Amino acid sequence: MEKKREWWKDSLVYQIYPRSFQDSNGDGIGDLNGIRQRLSYLKDLGVDVIWLSPVYQSPNDDNGYDISDYQAIMEEFGTMEDFDALLGEIHGLGMKLVMDLVVNHTSDEHPWFQESRRSRENPYRDYYIWKEPKAGGMPNNWASRFRGPAWTRDEDTGMYYLHIFSRKQPDLNWENPQVRKKIYEMMAWWGNKGIDGFRMDVISMLSKDPAYPDGELKEGNPYGDGQPYYANGPRIHEFLKEMNREVLSRFDWMTVGEGVGVGTKEALEYAGFDSGELNMMFHFEHMELCPGPYGKWNTNPVDLVQLKAVLSCWQQELEDRAWNSLFWENHDYPRAVSRFGNDSPKYRELSAKMLAICLYLMKGTPYVYQGQELAMTNCGFDRLEDFRDIEIHQVYEEMVGGGKLSHEEMMGYIRHTGRDNARTPMQWEDSPNGGFTEGTPWIPVNENYRTIHAREQMGREDSVYAFYQKLFRLRKASRVVREGTYRLLLPEHPGLFVYEREGEGEKMLVACNFTSDRQELKVPGWPWQEAKLWLGNYGSESDMAGLRPYEGAAWIKG
Ligand code: GLC
Ligand code: CA
Repeated sequence: MEKKREWWKDSLVYQIYPRSFQDSNGDGIGDLNGIRQRLSYLKDLGVDVIWLSPVYQSPNDDNGYDISDYQAIMEEFGTMEDFDALLGEIHGLGMKLVMDLVVNHTSDEHPWFQESRRSRENPYRDYYIWKEPKAGGMPNNWASRFRGPAWTRDEDTGMYYLHIFSRKQPDLNWENPQVRKKIYEMMAWWGNKGIDGFRMDVISMLSKDPAYPDGELKEGNPYGDGQPYYANGPRIHEFLKEMNREVLSRFDWMTVGEGVGVGTKEALEYAGFDSGELNMMFHFEHMELCPGPYGKWNTNPVDLVQLKAVLSCWQQELEDRAWNSLFWENHDYPRAVSRFGNDSPKYRELSAKMLAICLYLMKGTPYVYQGQELAMTNCGFDRLEDFRDIEIHQVYEEMVGGGKLSHEEMMGYIRHTGRDNARTPMQWEDSPNGGFTEGTPWIPVNENYRTIHAREQMGREDSVYAFYQKLFRLRKASRVVREGTYRLLLPEHPGLFVYEREGEGEKMLVACNFTSDRQELKVPGWPWQEAKLWLGNYGSESDMAGLRPYEGAAWIKG
C-alpha cells in the first residue's frame, strides 16, 4: 500500500540542459550563473524541482554525459562556488534541485579509466569491462547506441573495453564492489551538500549478462542488438536495493531512473511502492512508437491509437502500485509540438496547449523540458555542420558514408528525430541570439526566435507560457487530477484522445483533438448536463458536441 504522500508526487519538475539555457559571460555556452539569472522565471512558471543535466567536469564528447570528475564542476559552466550559490538560491526560492547521475559509464578521461587502461594488472583494471578478442575479433557483436561497435581495442594490452555509448564513454563494471562503494560515497557527498535527489542516467543498464551473448542482427545495422543483455540485467535489482540501503534511504530525495528497455512490468520492479529501489521511472514507450527500418531515424507520423494504448497502459498498470513520470520532451528527443502536435504558425500554440492538457491531466509527476513551455519547435537546420550531437554525426557517417542512405534522406530523418532539435538555445527575447548569449552560441539559435520567445509570451494572457502556468496551478489544487483513477475512452478513435479521471466524488473528462479537422465528440453516458468546463485551449466557450482543430478540453462534474 502507498504510504504518506511524498513531496515529489505533487512537484512540477523542469529540466535544464545547461549548455543551452543561459550564457552569462559571452562565451556562447550556457552556465550556472546564467541559470541563476533565470530562477525567478522558473518560479513564476510554477516550477518546484529543477532537474539539471550534468554539470560535472567533462571533456564533452556527449555534452557532459561523459564525466571525468564527479566532484568538480565543468569549467565552461563555472565553479563549485557558483554551484553552491545556485543551490542556495534555488532553496531560497522554495524550489529543489535534482542532479543527473551518470554512473553506467564515465569519460575515458576519468582517472579511473586512465589507470585501468594502463595494464592488465592495474588495481583499477576491474573498474571497467575488459574482454579478450574472440576469434581475432570483438568479444561480441553488440552495437553502440551511437552506432558502430560497442567495443574498442586498446593497443597496449590487446584487449577490448565495452562502451555502450561512444568510445569515450567506457562502461563501469558494476560487478566490482569497489566501484559501487565509490559511487555511493560520491552520491552521499552531493547529498551532504544538500541536493534533493538524482535523475539516474540509463540506470536500467548497470548489470550486464555475464555471458555477453551476441545480439540479434536487425535490418539497417551491421552490429547486433545487445539491449536484451544489458538492459534489466540479472543483478540490477540487487544493485539498486544496495544503493537504496547505502545512500538513497539516508536522504529525503526524489529518485527517477531513466528506463531504457523498461515496460510497466519492469517499472513495477524498479519503482513499485514497496520495491525499496527508486521513486519512479522515466520510460520511452510513447517516444519510440512507429520506428522505421533504421529505428529512430525516420519521418513517420505517430499513430494516435498506439500512443493512447501505451500511455493508458502505464496509467492503469501503475495504479496503486507505482508512480508515473509524465513527459513529452527531454534533451534526447525532438520538440513535442513538432512531433505530436502541429508546428505551423496557425496551429503551433493551440496544439502545444492541447498536448499539455492531454498529458498533464494524467496521474504522475509532470516534467517540462526547457522551452517546451514556449512551444519551441524543431531546429530546422539544413546543413549537417549546424548539428553538434555526436550521435547525429556518427549515424550520418554510417548511413551516408556507408552508402545506405542519401544525404537528403538522412537529413530529413535528423531534422525529424535528431537530439539537437531540443538542444538549440533557449529563446528568451527577440534580441540577437534570442538573449541566450552575447557571443557566438555553441549551436545556432533557432531562426524563429524573433517570434517565439519568453518575453513576448510572459506578457500575453493567451500564450503557451501563460497556459502552462495556469494548468499547473489548477493541477495542484485538483485532487481528481493528482489522485483520481484513469480510464481510456474511445480507444480506437483515430483522431481523438479521450479519457476520464475519477475520485473523491469527482469525475473529469479530458478530450483532445490531435487533428486539424473538427471531430464529433460522442461519449455515451457521460453526465454532460451536470459538468462544467474546467480548462480548455480555445478559451471558455467549448462545445461538448465536437472538438475544433487541435482543441483540448477538460470538463468536471463534482
Ligand atoms: C542518456 C542521456 C543521453 C546520453 C546517454 C549516455 O540516455 O539522456 O543524453 O547520451 O544517456 O549517457
Ligand atoms: Ca558561458
